[in-house]
Amino acid sequence: MEMINIKKYKIGYTQGTFDLFHIGHFNLLKNAKSQCEKLIVGINSDQLVAEYKNKITCMKEQERAQIMEAIKYVDEVIIVNTLDKVDAYKKIKFDAIFIGDDWKGNERWAQTEKDLKKYNVDVVYLPHTDGISTTMLKKEL
Ligand code: CTP
Repeated sequence: MEMINIKKYKIGYTQGTFDLFHIGHFNLLKNAKSQCEKLIVGINSDQLVAEYKNKITCMKEQERAQIMEAIKYVDEVIIVNTLDKVDAYKKIKFDAIFIGDDWKGNERWAQTEKDLKKYNVDVVYLPHTDGISTTMLKKEL
């Protein structure tokens, strides 16, 4: 018998830097895909990371995008030049946007919740994987 798997959302979106791909990134993508039929991932461009984080990534945007494309939970990858999620929504028309719950309570995300509500888009906070981050990996290396 074929299993019918009905997901809560049709199109899901998540955006991040995803430098030095690690298990926290993996868990986030797996959880996100469990809630949507199609998962689109926005990779923050090298220029965007330089501007807002004042950091240089270890891996170039093309490398980060290539690794992301190989993850089975990910259906489409784009490289993005803005943190503005309404801008992303206008291009992609997602039903939900996923982000780790380390961002819950953050001012920019509280505003994003309000902005996206107008378009009926849910902001879904997924459990952050504690004990790992790109920053930690860089320090240990
Ligand atoms: N994330 C997560 N668990 C982790 C690390 C990241 O769930 N241990 C999530 C973030 O909440 C975000 C996405 O993965 O939704 C991309 O995060 P990113 O900033 O690229 O990864 P970090 O490892 O947090 O990077 P940094 O240390 O540079 O902040």
